[in-house]
Amino acid sequence: MRAVVWHGKKDVRVEQVPDPVISDPADAIIRVTSTNICGSDLHLYEPLGAFMAQGDVLGHESMGVVEEVGAGVTNLSPGDRVVVPFQICCGTCWMCEHGLQSQCETTQVRAQGTGAALFGYSELYGSIPGGQAEYLRVPQAQYTHIPVPDGPPDERFVYLSDVLPTAWQAVAYADPEPEGTLLVLGLGPIGDMACRIALERGVRQVIGVDRVDARLDRARTRGVTTVDMREVDDVGDAVRELTGGRGADAVVDAVGMEAHGSPLVKASHKAVSLLPDALAKPLMTNVGVDRLAAFYTAIDTVRRGGTVSLSGVYGGMADPMPMMTLFDKQVQIRMGQANVKRWVPEIMPLLTDADPLGVDDFATHRLPLEAAPDAYATFQAKEDGMVKVVLKPGMDARDAVA
Ligand SMILES: NC(=O)c1ccc[n+]([C@@H]2O[C@H](COP(=O)([O-])OP(=O)(O)OC[C@H]3O[C@@H](n4cnc5c(N)ncnc54)[C@H](O)[C@@H]3O)[C@@H](O)[C@H]2O)c1
Ligand SMILES: [Zn+2]
Ligand SMILES: [Zn+2]
Repeated sequence: MRAVVWHGKKDVRVEQVPDPVISDPADAIIRVTSTNICGSDLHLYEPLGAFMAQGDVLGHESMGVVEEVGAGVTNLSPGDRVVVPFQICCGTCWMCEHGLQSQCETTQVRAQGTGAALFGYSELYGSIPGGQAEYLRVPQAQYTHIPVPDGPPDERFVYLSDVLPTAWQAVAYADPEPEGTLLVLGLGPIGDMACRIALERGVRQVIGVDRVDARLDRARTRGVTTVDMREVDDVGDAVRELTGGRGADAVVDAVGMEAHGSPLVKASHKAVSLLPDALAKPLMTNVGVDRLAAFYTAIDTVRRGGTVSLSGVYGGMADPMPMMTLFDKQVQIRMGQANVKRWVPEIMPLLTDADPLGVDDFATHRLPLEAAPDAYATFQAKEDGMVKVVLKPGMDARDAVA
């Protein structure tokens, strides 16, 4: 089959790889009909490259049609239409039963000290082949799937794999009062969707910050008050001005470790990405190559007693944390990989023809799988108005829409 394969930093290729096969009774194979590129893939594309191996298949936001099921999977049959959550989870362990599926005790990658195994997400998360491919092997398939009805287009449902539950959890963890203010840092797919969810849930004031015109425009047209970080001296001051001097009740950080805004750290980060893997890995996990610019902004902009909800992914541990400010401001911080299956029952009723969250036209680019290498480069550069790419393995290149 054809698949998007990682070869090195900023080097992904579409290649022929062996078809996946059922290797455990709990597996299923799906034929992928839609598979997105995510901001998290950009971390593998460059800074987390040390954890990837040549030949790894990327992708964790897929949906499709069941082709084949293992003997142990009794609730799926060939022909069923399913979305595949980005994390592999069993449904019966303590964590899954408590709605913490991204910590599943059956699939935790204990050798790396990390949570549930993820599709296409490096040795840190189990080296599981990803879904940017024609076919995907789904382990723990009895629970690692979301059944969706036939009829509506893929894009009605494909964001259940990641964007929707991640943005939903970001807002749920931020827990803004309806009369309050939610500040969202970063208006990529996750931040944009978090704004839409907060507005849909009736939060009075939603403020979004970014530095890319197309992303600011998209949010503004849906009722978000936007702050262009290129145009203000200090994001904190701009937010305080919009919030009666007090700051935002709750802040979602939808940026993560590839934030723009700390040039010094950027230099060290670049230096590490040039090192051989053996040297780069401990630096990424243990030493200060973090890029905490967005997190620092979150701490500065949240009001005293407010909540910071991190959905952006961070690595490393040595950047200084402003503990005194966090303690003095009485800030609550919540974070983590989204527990996909936990939020699906709350989100599903919004995926209707009325489309209150605007999922049907959320993608800016619909492209054949073969276009992945260019799409990764354009998405990383945030060019061509690209906010969300859906790759369609079955698409003829002549039908691409961008
Ligand atoms: N927690 C989870 O389960 C989960 C799931 C999916 C994605 N993520 C993470 O969420 C983050 C966002 O994902 P995405 O797909 O929207 O990515 P993205 O890279 O498209 O979006 C990030 C946005 O942040 C903006 N930005 C950069 N620096 C900024 C700053 N200092 N202040 C404000 N905005 C800034 C960028 O211009 C960009 O629009 C990534 O870190 C991704 O890994 C987490
Ligand atoms: Zn994703
Ligand atoms: Zn589990």
